[in-house]
Amino acid sequence: MTLQLRVYVPPHPLIKHWLGIARNAATPSALFRSAITELGRWLSYEAIREWLPTQDVMVQGPLETANVTLVDPEVPMAVVPILRAGLGLLEGAQTVLPSASIYHLGLVRNEETLQPECYLNKLPEKFHPETRVLITDPMLATGGSIMAAMVELVNRGINPELTRIVSVVAAPPALQKLNATYPGLIVYTATIDEIVNEKGFIVPGLGDAGDRIFGT
Ligand code: PRP
Repeated sequence: MTLQLRVYVPPHPLIKHWLGIARNAATPSALFRSAITELGRWLSYEAIREWLPTQDVMVQGPLETANVTLVDPEVPMAVVPILRAGLGLLEGAQTVLPSASIYHLGLVRNEETLQPECYLNKLPEKFHPETRVLITDPMLATGGSIMAAMVELVNRGINPELTRIVSVVAAPPALQKLNATYPGLIVYTATIDEIVNEKGFIVPGLGDAGDRIFGT
């Protein structure tokens, strides 16, 4: 069987609502930040459905014993926010993954070449091979940044099939690059926008998500 990248756009009214708020150029920075936080929460909720490892155990209830299913604390879980804009999704992701380790990765696109440059890398030298990774980055445009993040993770032992990407707006160039190299990956996004313009902006997109989150 040939693997192919899966891209989910969960049909959830809250995801549509917060995307609508984020798309509006008149939305002020504080509300834009809330919208991205909410998108982080609901998209992460969807993304971990079949990803979060669980174990079946028996507990003593108030009246009787009961068989229950709990999150398995033994399997390492990591969230990798791609700075800066990925920080906006992190808070929401942490509400559904409170015990995940957070590893920051700072990437910025060179405005001329659109190539990502790494200015912060808090990834460990080696991950446990069973580690589940959730990458947060609201924009997947040309795909340079997410591909650079994947190279760093895979070089440190991460299995792409245990990796989920949480994004807000994904564009075909990024999805095609991911599919060509990491077909086992799964992407959760609020929408797919078809166009990346000559400046590397997704159209209609959200504008510069990092600038809008941080009011810069
Ligand atoms: C933006 C965005 C993504 C990247 C997407 O970050 O947040 O990380 O560009 O573009 P790509 O798919 O073409 O690589 P930017 O470089 O503007 O940095 P910022 O998050 O600090 O604003």
